[in-house]
Amino acid sequence: MSTWANLGLQDSASPLMEQLIFFHDHALLILVMINVLVGYLMFMLFFNYNLNRFLLHGQHVEMIWTILPAIILLFIAFPSLRLLYLLDEINEPSVTLKSIGHQWYWSYEYSDFNDIEFDSYMIPTNELENDGFRLVNVDNRIVLPLNSQIRILVTAADVIHSWTIPALGVKVDGTPGRLNQTNFFINRPGLFYGQCSEICGANHSFMPIVIESVPVNNFIKWISNNVNS
Ligand code: CUA
Repeated sequence: MSTWANLGLQDSASPLMEQLIFFHDHALLILVMINVLVGYLMFMLFFNYNLNRFLLHGQHVEMIWTILPAIILLFIAFPSLRLLYLLDEINEPSVTLKSIGHQWYWSYEYSDFNDIEFDSYMIPTNELENDGFRLVNVDNRIVLPLNSQIRILVTAADVIHSWTIPALGVKVDGTPGRLNQTNFFINRPGLFYGQCSEICGANHSFMPIVIESVPVNNFIKWISNNVNS
C-alpha cells in the first residue's frame, strides 16, 4: 500500500508489475538523457556569438535532427509494445474472479465455485479499528491464492468504474454491458490495496479494493468454508 512518503511506484507483487517498473525506469532514463542534451545545448546558446547572416537552411543538420529523435523513440516504442502484449496474455488461469462495479461499492463472484458472491464496502472512518487504514479498508476482502494465475473479469452495473491494484499492475475498466478480462499472478502473501480509478460519481473515492493473498491450501479452506451447499 502507498503511504504518505511514497512518491514513486509501489513495490511489485506480480511479474507484470515488475516489468512495468523496469519499463518506467527505462523510459525515465531516456527522458533524462534527452533533457540533459537539450538543456546543455540551450544553455550554451547564450554564450555563442558566432553568427551567419546568410544561413537559411542546412540540409545535413536537419536530416540529423529529424532521424535521430525517431530512432530514439524506437527504443521506447518496442519495449512498450512488448509490455502491451505481455499484459494481454492469458496464461491458463486456475481461478477466475468476477468483479462488478456499483455506485459505490464492488461486488465479487467466484464463478468457479457454487454460490460464492459478496459485496465489498469501504469501512467508514468512524467505524475503523485502531490498526485500520482510513478510506482503503473494506468489510469483505477478496481472498486469492498466491503463485497462481488468476483471471479477473470486470464489469459494472451502473456507470463506468475501474478496478485498479497498483502493486499487481492491474487496471481494468468496468463498463456496463461489457465484460473485460485480464490476468495476474501474485508472487507474495499479504494485503494489496486498490481503488476505483474512473470518475464514477460523488463517492468515487470511497470504493476501495482489498486483496488478501494467501497460500493455495488456505485459499481452498476459505472456499470450502464459504460455499453454500
Ligand atoms: Cu467507481 Cu470511481
